[in-house]
Amino acid sequence: MRLAVIGCGYVGLVTGSCLAEAGHDVVATDNDQARIQTLNAGRLPIHEPGLDGVMERARAAGRLRFTGNCAEAVGAAEAIFICVGTPPLESGEADLSAIDNVARQIAALRSPKLVIEKSTVPAQTGQQLRRALNVYGRDAGGAIFRVASNPEFLREGTAIGDFFHPDRIVIGVEDQESERQLREIYRPILEGRFHCPVHQPSCPAGRAPAFLVTTIASAELIKHASNSFLGLKIAYANVLADLCERLGGDVEEVTRAMGMDPRIGPQFLNAGLGFGGFCLPKDIQAFNRLAERNGVDFTLLKETERINKGRIDQLMEKVRKALWVVKEKKIGVLGLAFKPNTDDVRFAPAIEVVRRLQAERAVVRATDPVAIEKARAVLPGVEFIEDPYRVALGADALLLLTEWADYRQLDWKRICKEMARPLVIDARNALSPSEMRALGFEYDSFGRPELSAKPTLVTA
Ligand SMILES: NC(=O)c1ccc[n+]([C@@H]2O[C@H](COP(=O)([O-])OP(=O)(O)OC[C@H]3O[C@@H](n4cnc5c(N)ncnc54)[C@H](O)[C@@H]3O)[C@@H](O)[C@H]2O)c1
Repeated sequence: MRLAVIGCGYVGLVTGSCLAEAGHDVVATDNDQARIQTLNAGRLPIHEPGLDGVMERARAAGRLRFTGNCAEAVGAAEAIFICVGTPPLESGEADLSAIDNVARQIAALRSPKLVIEKSTVPAQTGQQLRRALNVYGRDAGGAIFRVASNPEFLREGTAIGDFFHPDRIVIGVEDQESERQLREIYRPILEGRFHCPVHQPSCPAGRAPAFLVTTIASAELIKHASNSFLGLKIAYANVLADLCERLGGDVEEVTRAMGMDPRIGPQFLNAGLGFGGFCLPKDIQAFNRLAERNGVDFTLLKETERINKGRIDQLMEKVRKALWVVKEKKIGVLGLAFKPNTDDVRFAPAIEVVRRLQAERAVVRATDPVAIEKARAVLPGVEFIEDPYRVALGADALLLLTEWADYRQLDWKRICKEMARPLVIDARNALSPSEMRALGFEYDSFGRPELSAKPTLVTA
């Protein structure tokens, strides 16, 4: 099928490349002309493992093109995926101006098309979008548009695998033709007809993804409800970590046992510095504001936001407690991205921590395997160094803020010798407290106090 993708960010590039790999003809567009030039030069503006290979194959097969001209992308398409950003406004509500802008451009076309919201949007945006398309289209003497919602659940860092092997594909539609088209678009994914870059030579046999057909409002709600619930789980684990620090338990032992209960599940129970990125924080805020606006008390989400923001205060308190005076101390920072395997620093807790350290006049040196360039753009006054050993050299403290696997593999014995004071605050509970202390570090993390009781968890 001929498809257009509007917005060449994380979601647009993954969606466009994977659907082209699955056999569709995709033209992708963005209003950032520099981004289009980068893409047309064969380079990626983002770091996402495996995306380069999928994109290259699709382009070589002539199934994926990039253009800065929205009308050209949309003109020949039978269905259009809107993948533009929906950042938070000052009020916490989602800024839908990019969606409105795109609606105007699509409406200028005179042929009826299926317009699919893939961006994360509050419930009832679909209705507004349909209305806007038809109002703007009337000026152009134009056509009737159909609208659908198809929320995206990919995770940065594993986005290609997530797109090809989703747990579920949710489509919110209001007519049979839209459902038919979306089934057609996703048929190759549902039937496993694509070259999977994640599993070679072939994907393991498994369950086909569930294909859920809902109303548009339900599909919109599903995305916000899922992200909010994930944030809530993390916040819960973080409060448990605080309790463990007071009572002498070990949060990892607690959450591990909790996660073995299939009604709870083990994921998103990691205590530490809290969540960040371009999804969870803004989606929780937007969901909460949506509830408020509609007279529904969702204090639970307000608390989730509050607890999450408080994690940074807790870390700063640990830093102050350990260093006594922060001013002029040399602090090394390991990790800037909001999570491992991405270069995305939007709403990354690490960025806020560095800002706070700077506000207290610490001398900050920082590193990240792939996010230095993006961090440099938002953090003036920081010395960025690629080599983590040079970040640690002569430092009064080292803060581990993103749990990259590389950091677990560092030669910590060497680091211990080379720091001015071997003090590590592990804000992601990535390292073993007993091993770090045995090496001679002063070591702190979240919810794993030194004198915790050590009951044994017996596993099969
Ligand atoms: N990043 C994720 O992990 C993720 C996962 C699921 C859903 N989402 C949702 O998907 C949406 C996009 O997220 P993202 O991370 O890809 O954002 P992004 O900022 O990386 O990409 C958005 C792109 O849209 C472009 N754009 C903005 N306005 C435009 C316009 N008027 N015309 C054409 N292009 C325009 C921007 O230049 C940018 O390249 C958001 O609503 C987000 O909440 C993101």
